[in-house]
Amino acid sequence: MEITASAPGKAILFGEHAVVYGKPAIAVAVDRKAYVTLKKREDKRVHVKINDLNLSGFLDLEKSEVKVENLNKKPEKKGILNYILSAVLKVQKGALQGMDIEIDLEIPIGAGLGSSAAITVATIAAVSKFNRMELSKDEIAEHAHNVELEVQGAASHIDTTLSTYGGMIYLSKNAEDIKPIKISGNLPLVVGYTEERGNTGELVESVKLKKETYPEAVNPILNAIESVTDDAVDALLEKDEKRIGELMNINHGLLDALGVNTGDLSRMAYTARRAGALGSKITGAGGGGSIIAYCPGKVEEVIKSIKKMDKAFNAALSVDGVKVKVKK
Ligand code: MEV
Repeated sequence: MEITASAPGKAILFGEHAVVYGKPAIAVAVDRKAYVTLKKREDKRVHVKINDLNLSGFLDLEKSEVKVENLNKKPEKKGILNYILSAVLKVQKGALQGMDIEIDLEIPIGAGLGSSAAITVATIAAVSKFNRMELSKDEIAEHAHNVELEVQGAASHIDTTLSTYGGMIYLSKNAEDIKPIKISGNLPLVVGYTEERGNTGELVESVKLKKETYPEAVNPILNAIESVTDDAVDALLEKDEKRIGELMNINHGLLDALGVNTGDLSRMAYTARRAGALGSKITGAGGGGSIIAYCPGKVEEVIKSIKKMDKAFNAALSVDGVKVKVKK
């Protein structure tokens, strides 16, 4: 028997950083997934292999430890194994049956696109099925959020919610209240990214310091991001393309003012606009990582232009969340 679970990554469309101060945000699940495939092993060990990273190891469930076998050129990426260990432990019941877990990724790791949540959600779905547990989506999301809390220390519900349910969400004050935004048709989005990685914790801290040092300048910026986000909900529901794009551009400028932009992110954002995107902005924490561009009728052109110097992919909205397939 082979079980494969898939779960999408995410991108923040509006409101990052301001959301830390109780402002709203809008985020979408993107049609780029993490795939977790499980097979039974003859012994009682749990082996994990992440194909794209050339990273593998054994999970010792009794000691709650990861034993990395081979460290690739990017040792910082081995942290992802802690999410997988914690996810397996959440749904391990009864006598241990050994398993081989293989992971394939369509989402770059550490680019602010929710790769760890997608892997966590898909692992919980696959392992619970393997252990003959029938979990609801609510239960999967709850376990996945707890995994993020355990591994990261702090986490919002954005990533795990989108990887579980798919779609687009609006997070109102303090990110506890999450509402779906239902739009008809697709959202023509493109993500651009570089190998440069921002450190979310440090970036959030740098904004906090700016807010403390220049409250009269920074508080209005956070209020402006809030207005942009609330206006964007109507623009998205009305499919007002021009307004969606303009609001993204304003949001990009406000993030720049908060100090989380970089030369690479600016280059990609402006390349996208020159190639016909109606709007483009940093997505996620910034300081490296990714941009998102809104490109009605211009998706291919924008991807091609960004790819001249950086990486890019079509980030169509994923209506689907986590899915499980069983092959006998
Ligand atoms: C990071 O993806 C989004 C931030 O707003 C931080 C957070 O909400 O935890 C920068």
